[in-house]
Amino acid sequence: MTNHLNLIVDEIVNETHDTISILLHEKDNRDLSFLPGQFLTFIFDADGIETRRGYSIWTTPDDLPQVGVAIKKFKDGVTTKYLLESLKVGDSITSLPPLGNFTVETNQENERTLVMFGAGSGITPLMSHLQAILKYEPKSKVILFYGNHDEDSIIFYDKLNSLQKKYSDNFFIEHCLSKPKRNWNGVHGRIDSVKSIELLDKYKTHFTGQVEYYLCGPEEMMQTVMNILKERNVDRKNIHREIYTTKVLDETDEIEEKEREVTIILQGERHKVLVMPNETILEKALEQGLEIPNSCQFGNCSTCKAKLLSGKLKLVEQTALSEEDIKQGFCLTCVGYPASDNVVILYEDMF
Ligand code: FES
Repeated sequence: MTNHLNLIVDEIVNETHDTISILLHEKDNRDLSFLPGQFLTFIFDADGIETRRGYSIWTTPDDLPQVGVAIKKFKDGVTTKYLLESLKVGDSITSLPPLGNFTVETNQENERTLVMFGAGSGITPLMSHLQAILKYEPKSKVILFYGNHDEDSIIFYDKLNSLQKKYSDNFFIEHCLSKPKRNWNGVHGRIDSVKSIELLDKYKTHFTGQVEYYLCGPEEMMQTVMNILKERNVDRKNIHREIYTTKVLDETDEIEEKEREVTIILQGERHKVLVMPNETILEKALEQGLEIPNSCQFGNCSTCKAKLLSGKLKLVEQTALSEEDIKQGFCLTCVGYPASDNVVILYEDMF
């Protein structure tokens, strides 16, 4: 039985010149329950190829049965071209149920501080987190550092302002603009290491209880903030980050440029596939018609989890795996590139 949802578009809202919110409900009232910070995986046809893209939900479970995602439109982007350009109210979108581990669970007894670093459309899951925390944890605080290009590119600007007014004792925002257009009294510049240190120092007097960090945005920003938090001896378990795009390998990723033969063991049968240097094992296996379980295709849901029995993989991001999984030799094949000969992958029956 398919677990695909049939989502109907209720409303399309222009959040900025290049970002839209889509509000949807499930046509047959199938379960859409989610935790703040999870994402939907839209499935659509792009020139005959089944394509999947994950989009974080910015609304909260209180808004069910409606959910909202925000999507940035990219000129020539696959989603823009094949899904968004002709999308209108009443259309349906096929989606997987909500997935993802970049979540918060609320408890009204909690007294903690969530420090959020976001940039661009990375605000989307943070928006869901912060609304839930502000509403259900009256003793907790949320501090948001949000980077954008200019005033007009700030997604959810009005919504964030009204939340700040409503929760003025618990919610603090610093908008950081790299190229403000008008007279801008806020922070100038990208969220780089200098800026991150300044912001953390400026707000440290607001920290209360346990301090947890939530990062979502371009890899460079997240890595910068991670390094600073590491220097400050922040426990890794208090740092949460979302990878919301598939990182493409670049020349700094050391993989010898050659085709590799990979053996895939699926339901007891061995299959040999030839994987090109820039292809993931999952991509190639699906292309060869192997029915490998998969969902988000960017290392975030663990549906494509398998065991590496021999050989080496270059794994780009595995946010969905625990350290224990990794120790036991599990990997996510949607972000796994063969980096040696003799790669053997086992999909166990339980997957
Ligand atoms: S398909 Fe989601 S982690 Fe691989």
